Amino acid sequence: MTSTLVPEGLTPFGGGEANAAWAEEVRRLAKQRDAVLLAHNYQVPEIQDIADHTGDSLALSRIAASSDASTIVFCGVHFMAETAKILAPEKTVLIPDARAGCSLADSITGAELRAWKAEHPGAVVVSYVNTTAEVKAETDICCTSSNAVDVVASIPADQEVLFLPDQFLGAHVKRVTGRDNIHIWAGECHVHAGINGAELAERAASNPDADLFIHPECGCATSALYLAGEGAVAPERVKILSTGDMVHEARDTKAKTVLVATEIGMIHQLRKAAPGIDFRAVNDRASCRYMKMITPAALLRCLRDGLDEVHVDLETASKARASVQRMIEIGQPGGGE
Ligand code: 13P
Ligand code: SF4
Repeated sequence: MTSTLVPEGLTPFGGGEANAAWAEEVRRLAKQRDAVLLAHNYQVPEIQDIADHTGDSLALSRIAASSDASTIVFCGVHFMAETAKILAPEKTVLIPDARAGCSLADSITGAELRAWKAEHPGAVVVSYVNTTAEVKAETDICCTSSNAVDVVASIPADQEVLFLPDQFLGAHVKRVTGRDNIHIWAGECHVHAGINGAELAERAASNPDADLFIHPECGCATSALYLAGEGAVAPERVKILSTGDMVHEARDTKAKTVLVATEIGMIHQLRKAAPGIDFRAVNDRASCRYMKMITPAALLRCLRDGLDEVHVDLETASKARASVQRMIEIGQPGGGE
């Protein structure tokens, strides 16, 4: 259905009046539905700015679990909305476009995980939140990039760990915890894997005083630590951070320039947090097409028509809930605003 305020396929912004009318209508409809609007840090700026809360996966899951609103509108990708439904089964959970998937979540199925577990009986299964509800139902503890290290550190040192599905985050966790009994699934996010070490090295060399903010899903995270080890970049300038922790670090750093290795939507939230810093994307083509399916027009349609609604069957949800509950209990609170 085409909105009368926002023609399909057009961004309503740039014109002050259309923008204000869209924002007013979104707020009116959200109030009418008793809905809280949650937006991930990779959403387009207009959606980040209209949301009640913008943050990383962990912060948004915590808010979904504790909100008083009867409806959650999740402006992010499908596994995030599904996680909200698992945590708050009594609430209506809406996503503006249910086709907003995730290449990382697609890299392992429930059947593949069951087969992997059969090869390692007794191992503790730690799944990144970027997984389907079916995979979460086969998981002992979920984690996000902001608490993955804490989650793995909470497991007794003599127990084997199966970590999935992101190989770069897995390598980061292995490095920080120093565990050698951790097995890592070879999945990756196509956006973060594409931010490569050569690009990072070149940008770091031409900005020698810049901080490097690097998401642990990036293909370049290992290269950044290598550059620091080689003395090409000062070690204290290399910061491996979740998207929420990047916002916290932006407020604390003394650097004048920061090179940012993650999806480009992040830059908007960083500039808001620290307007005096020059934030530059390491790869300005690193845009997630799934995150960008949540357009202003789609948000308006979602609030008007109550679509797309997210459902998780009761048995899968109840199996998945324990692992997601443990995720929101472990690690520092924060990561959003
Ligand atoms: P965080 O916001 O938890 O750092 O996750 C990043 C991500 O890739 C979500 O898709
Ligand atoms: Fe998935 Fe990567 Fe997009 Fe995040 S950026 S939603 S991990 S495809």
